[in-house]
Amino acid sequence: MTVAAMVAEFDDVAGWTADAVEQLGIRYAIPAACRGSASPAALAWLAEACELSPGTRLLDVGAGAGGPAAWAAERFGVRPILLEPMQAAGRAASRLFGLPVLTADGTRIPLRTGSVDAGWCLGVLCTVEDKAALLSEIHRVLTPGASLGLLVVVAEGPQILRVPDGNHFPTQDELAELLEHTGFTLLEQTSRPESAPLSWSRRVEQVNAVIAARHRSAAAYALAARQGERLTRLFASDQVSMQLIHAVSCPISK
Ligand SMILES: C[S@@+](CC[C@H](N)C(=O)[O-])C[C@H]1O[C@@H](n2cnc3c(N)ncnc32)[C@H](O)[C@@H]1O
Repeated sequence: MTVAAMVAEFDDVAGWTADAVEQLGIRYAIPAACRGSASPAALAWLAEACELSPGTRLLDVGAGAGGPAAWAAERFGVRPILLEPMQAAGRAASRLFGLPVLTADGTRIPLRTGSVDAGWCLGVLCTVEDKAALLSEIHRVLTPGASLGLLVVVAEGPQILRVPDGNHFPTQDELAELLEHTGFTLLEQTSRPESAPLSWSRRVEQVNAVIAARHRSAAAYALAARQGERLTRLFASDQVSMQLIHAVSCPISK
């Protein structure tokens, strides 16, 4: 990933987040380390849809600083494996949650074929150009019939406003076609459930305030902030929407 704004957003901010959580306390870790805009309600929908249970080997592809996987471990007793190409983000996840992190690209997952019980990929697809390669590789490592939980920002028509650098939002039809061609059956889909409660969003705000106080003058801070502002404007003007998807891995028909 060479887009400077994406490195700022996904790597620099992840490292700063771990530093800020160390100052504020560990109860800030999960909300602050959910960088794909997942709320507890969204995570619960995905976890229930995927029927996660104690001991499930859950691969989180594009895990970022590890908040969603840590939430699933805490609430559902899963055994997460995180995969994240950004080094500082992976280090943040290990520091905050002590979870195993594979530093790799999602199109080349260093795991055996059929070795994983369930997959999550939250807020990642729109940041990846070759979405089919990513989904095919996730399909390879999942056991047949395994669940895949996705959080996807979907284009609701042409984006007239500027999109965050490096982002390519699929339309709903493109997403459905991609899933089918990479060996997944889309079972269920919902728009973003309720937003996060104040107990969660206030912790995120406090972490963001510490990051701003320490890094406001950094070039990476301005780049990451611009990415966030562009995405917020796209949501506000209904040019994109957030979708939660439960799909299952099935044999690919040749
Ligand atoms: C919006 S963040 C979401 C992070 C995390 N899933 C969450 O919900 O908090 C997108 C993540 O996808 C990762 N990513 C981007 N391209 C990727 C790729 N080719 N393979 C795996 N992860 C990728 C980024 O490094 C970043 O951590």
